[in-house]
Amino acid sequence: MNPLNHVAIIMDGNGRWGLKNKNSRNLGHSEGLKVVEYIIQETIKKKIKFLTLFAFSTENWKRPSYEINYLLNLLEKFLKEKAKKFSKEDIKLKIIGKKKFSNKLNKLLTEAEKKTSNNKKLQINLALNYGSKDELIHAVKHISKKKEAINQKNFEKYLFTKNIPDPDILIRTGNHNRLSNFLLWQLAYSEIFFIKKLWPDFNIQDYRKIIYKFKKIKRNFGNI
Ligand code: IPE
Ligand code: IPE
Ligand code: MG
Repeated sequence: MNPLNHVAIIMDGNGRWGLKNKNSRNLGHSEGLKVVEYIIQETIKKKIKFLTLFAFSTENWKRPSYEINYLLNLLEKFLKEKAKKFSKEDIKLKIIGKKKFSNKLNKLLTEAEKKTSNNKKLQINLALNYGSKDELIHAVKHISKKKEAINQKNFEKYLFTKNIPDPDILIRTGNHNRLSNFLLWQLAYSEIFFIKKLWPDFNIQDYRKIIYKFKKIKRNFGNI
């Protein structure tokens, strides 16, 4: 049975779900947030230590401003409501990506990170304004200023995911088989599950099935 330390998720399909069921892409985002809550609870139950959620990409700025604003407001509301709960439940929140939002939101994010920084049960990495190519360039710029050797171990210290083990599992809902600039370095050996369902339809049974399948996969890492 494979050990499972880290699950990463590309939560895709909110917009399509919203259009189909509520005639509004934005309402799909609200619905998607409900799924986040029970996936967090199940992750804790399974004693998985890291959960990385792709919430907003560097490319998502191309979307219409009413959708971007809706998403960022949703995030603000989520942080205000959950920061205390995270503290109480021993959940650590870390933002991966550059915090380039409104001053108010940047502050809320930094505060939530600070308040939860010593928590141990589960670490949630929220990928916000995150793009893997940006992250890699950032790392190259920083390591090239140092005198240390350029090798994998040193390079990883300059990624936003410093000190976080690589994901064992990547889940992408929403019926697209692509990475969309997510964790290109870190996913080198992850087991990838592309799921047809849209994110708001993804449920605990779907999550459990993936974990069950993962446990039985023969992971080679190049060996036999
Ligand atoms: C993913 O759902 C959530 C974000 C990108 C914020 P989408 O909004 O991409 O939903 P679809 O893929 O358009 O249905
Ligand atoms: C990936 O979904 C980003 C998030 C889930 C936050 P997108 O919907 O942005 O991906 P593409 O553009 O369809 O590849
Ligand atoms: Mg999408």
